[in-house]
Amino acid sequence: MKSEYDAWYAENGEYRQKVASDERRLAFHLMPKTGWMNDPNGLCQYHGVYHIYYQYTPFEPTGELKLWGHYTTKDFVHYQDDGPVLFPDEEIDAHGVYSGSAFIEEDTMHFFYTGNLKYFDRDDYDYINSGRGSNTISFTSKNGHDFTEKQLLMTTDDYPEDMSNHVRDPKIFKKDDTYYMVLGARDHKSKGMVLLYQSKDLASWTYANRITTEEPFGYMWECPDVFELDGQYILTCCPQGVPKDGIDYENVHQAVSMKLDYDFETNDYQLKDMHLLDRGFDFYAQQTFEDEQGRRILIGWMGIPDADYTNPTVEAGWQHALTIPRELCLENGKLIQKPMEELKQLRQDKSQKAFSKECGAAFDHVVYEAEIDFEYCQNMELSMRKGITLSYQDGILTLDLGAFGAGRTTRSVKVTELEHLQIFADTTSVEIFVNHGEEVFTSRMYQLEGELKLAGSCAGTMTVYTLDSFIIEDKEK
Ligand code: FRU
Repeated sequence: MKSEYDAWYAENGEYRQKVASDERRLAFHLMPKTGWMNDPNGLCQYHGVYHIYYQYTPFEPTGELKLWGHYTTKDFVHYQDDGPVLFPDEEIDAHGVYSGSAFIEEDTMHFFYTGNLKYFDRDDYDYINSGRGSNTISFTSKNGHDFTEKQLLMTTDDYPEDMSNHVRDPKIFKKDDTYYMVLGARDHKSKGMVLLYQSKDLASWTYANRITTEEPFGYMWECPDVFELDGQYILTCCPQGVPKDGIDYENVHQAVSMKLDYDFETNDYQLKDMHLLDRGFDFYAQQTFEDEQGRRILIGWMGIPDADYTNPTVEAGWQHALTIPRELCLENGKLIQKPMEELKQLRQDKSQKAFSKECGAAFDHVVYEAEIDFEYCQNMELSMRKGITLSYQDGILTLDLGAFGAGRTTRSVKVTELEHLQIFADTTSVEIFVNHGEEVFTSRMYQLEGELKLAGSCAGTMTVYTLDSFIIEDKEK
């Protein structure tokens, strides 16, 4: 498979050129060199180096056979692009090396992922309860580049009997001297949940419990993650099949966090404080890890599966990207996402303006970071690009992509008091951190004409920086 890829790579210089010259490509977000990118995988920091693997289909922009691509960085500005490093090249993962994670223990990187299988030998498979295989597989590494042989840990037959074929996306955490694995799952009754396994050696795993809401919350929970912040366990996952409820759950699939109170002696638990991790159009499959400074970092896929729109970049041969890295904190019991400190290195020219009522400052920057500190805000309308606005009215904050969302228009969130906005605008994406990260909007947008101005019944200070691009060294060249 690696050799097939290498042959394909050698023949596709023109394809790479086409993507490289697309004006919609992103300046400070990781995106595929060609083709399709989805979930971040195997996030970790090892000997100072951050490793960012990701779901990758280099061959076409529509995401068919999944490989793992690999970026590394030490500072979140300079990156190394290794291209694909994990291939669906064995019987246990023949139809895709699906999402997974890394866990560092005793100076070894332990990787876990799902080997996807799809059977075509019968025509009565529904591909929910039959026709699919989801193997849990592991391998290790001492450097993030050279991997040991793949070890099959569990097959579809090993999961609880009432599970459908949809069980995937292993993520590990450790509590005292026990390792735990969470897996996203759908049962025979189409209830979404997380399966919890435990192990003493990271090799042999036994089923411990299932974690889910009392009432069904969607039919499948993808990409679960369990981690501790200030002594509180948090579960994040991606439920599918949750009905829209006013301005909540408007996307086809969700990305949520919940507080998890778990008794590891009795396996009793309680889930509470369900919160949508993002209010924009393009956020999914987030994964977290703890770095060597003890920060809990989250990176998400800046895209969503099964979305009912055509991304304009498809015609340029690529699709999707990863979000900027964010640091997670618990503040006053709320899960907060803050852009990582390292992103400040991208700041270039700075302009600052105090405003009352109308903000005279009008910029035509396209790639920028804007910080708005409100003394008060009754209502406002912020133009972020020509024809793309963020407005605050009657306690509701609304992103409106207008004619530039490829058919997608508005997303909203309730905000009792608007105090602060921090906006990262890339060529074709925007990430808006509301009130220091209490709410976030992540979205692609397709308008390259800049216009940044603010009007309304509000006063405060607006600071704008132009932003530099990432510097990426292509190791495949
Ligand atoms: C989430 C997801 C995962 C799966 C992967 C396949 O976007 O569907 O559940 O492992 O993508 O690419």
